[in-house]
Amino acid sequence: MQPQQKSVLCVGLVCLDIINVVDQYPTEDSDTRCVSQRWQRGGNASNSCSVLSLLGTKTSFMGSISRGPVSDFIVSDFSRLSIDSSLLSWVSGTTPVACCVVSRSNGSRTVVLYDTNLPDVSLEDFSKVDLRNFHWIHFEGRNASEQLQMIQQVVQWNSSVPPDQRVSVSVEIEKVREELYVLFNMADVVFVSKDVARNFGFESAKDAVMGLSSRVRPGSALICAWAELGADAIKDGVLFHSSAFPPMKLVDTLGAGDTFNASVIHVLSQGGDLQEALSFGCRVAGAKCGFHGYDEIA
Ligand code: ADP
Ligand code: FRU
Repeated sequence: MQPQQKSVLCVGLVCLDIINVVDQYPTEDSDTRCVSQRWQRGGNASNSCSVLSLLGTKTSFMGSISRGPVSDFIVSDFSRLSIDSSLLSWVSGTTPVACCVVSRSNGSRTVVLYDTNLPDVSLEDFSKVDLRNFHWIHFEGRNASEQLQMIQQVVQWNSSVPPDQRVSVSVEIEKVREELYVLFNMADVVFVSKDVARNFGFESAKDAVMGLSSRVRPGSALICAWAELGADAIKDGVLFHSSAFPPMKLVDTLGAGDTFNASVIHVLSQGGDLQEALSFGCRVAGAKCGFHGYDEIA
């Protein structure tokens, strides 16, 4: 019998994005019409699952959600894109919703998220995950002290199995929150955002990866995307760069970072090298900025 194909698991936020597309970003306290409006499943880890799946990587999502019409929409959208949602953690409360304004004039995205503070995936939830099903686990940094222990479980698992059954770990450190920074030295691949990099005083992706490299473990890759300037990475002191691939017209930059992360993971999880992954990440994320949502990635 053929062994079941292993998946990439993404752990983090799922929410509903209510997206208003406008011609121009509105003035505060004005009353305007939008060009179109749509519901879209959102959240960094959830968006990365969409992109991975559209690229052809088998994927599962793990995160918290509450029952109601919003979760009905989210669950059916996971299944529309063949994303396994059996690891959703059902909790009481309200599923987070974001109101997003995407401007047709420049593709800008303005997000106002009602993060309803559902209890995040716990160590106990994660302990029930059958690690045999996965070859890569991506954590969106949220409840870092708990996520640190989840990663330790993966490390322990890796030390007990032959090399070909080990699980690679990536983390995203996107929010400027001190408590997330313990995750820098916990993963094989670390994505650090421009916001966090700036908060550390860096004004370019290259300076950021050079300046923050001492925080990651030897042998790990540290990657920083910088919108229209592409992305840089460092691994064992060696620098990598990819320029951006801007679309003909910027239409929708919502989730560009999540698209980039997923595309990088797609390549690395198939054994591709860091330069290849960085270039592919920028290519797919750049293309994504040229259309609404993610579906056209396929
Ligand atoms: P986010 O703000 O969504 O986290 P970034 O702005 O860091 O994401 O962008 C992630 C990647 O998306 C960049 O490395 C780049 O490849 C692509 N990207 C984002 N904005 C643009 C843009 N204006 N033009 C071209 N590519 C872009
Ligand atoms: C895009 C996104 C949206 C969501 C918001 C949460 O990166 O994940 O889908 O509304 O960010 O911060």
